Amino acid sequence: MDEAAPTLFEYGRESLAAHPAAYSDNYLFTHKRAPLRPLHAVAPTLTELTGPSFGPEVLDACDDDLTRQHDRGPIGERIIVCGRVVDEDGRGIPRTLIEIWQANAAGRYAHAVDCHDAPLDPNFTGRGRVLTDAAGHYRFVTIKPGAYPVGGLDNVWRPSHIHLSLFGPSFLSRLVTQMYFPGDPLLPFDTILNTAPPHSRQMMIASLDRAATRSEWAVAYRFDIVLRGRRVGTP
Ligand SMILES: [Fe+2]
Repeated sequence: MDEAAPTLFEYGRESLAAHPAAYSDNYLFTHKRAPLRPLHAVAPTLTELTGPSFGPEVLDACDDDLTRQHDRGPIGERIIVCGRVVDEDGRGIPRTLIEIWQANAAGRYAHAVDCHDAPLDPNFTGRGRVLTDAAGHYRFVTIKPGAYPVGGLDNVWRPSHIHLSLFGPSFLSRLVTQMYFPGDPLLPFDTILNTAPPHSRQMMIASLDRAATRSEWAVAYRFDIVLRGRRVGTP
């Protein structure tokens, strides 16, 4: 076997017990997104099985510290977020890119379509990237995002949350998810969180990580992430 050839894995179907249903009565945006016809299985292509592959060359110096991307630090509570990315069998996923985006401490995104009446922070863009290490561990620094209202709906608020996108070893293992904060009083009312099955809801809420907290500097939260696993029986 050519040692330079990429390792190909077979991937099992995503666990429907772990993911939200495509259509939810309470989540209005799913009404337009959900497929209207039965799905057909399509064999994955070589491209889908072998990539995308990102390395350190895609990262800028402060991508993993959202508080150091401008001349001054942002307003807000500085926090550390850390954890491990694993597959459904608990195997750490090395060198996978995690993309991060979030609102600032006032609950406002630095984005043209965000019309929330809250201040922008000139020292906070709210975007970052980090690679996992050889064992799947990652760590980044940011500020705790604020809650924000959902435009067009009556008194509907999103809890504080951080958006994350991961590819894992292939397109088939891609996951877009959100990290929530423990004890947030808005959690029981969040339509997006409540669309997920109960077990998955708990997995989307980070936990305080006292060991990773840095004294007199920042509290740390642990958020482990599980990506789609290989088909049962493959190495
Ligand atoms: Fe958001």
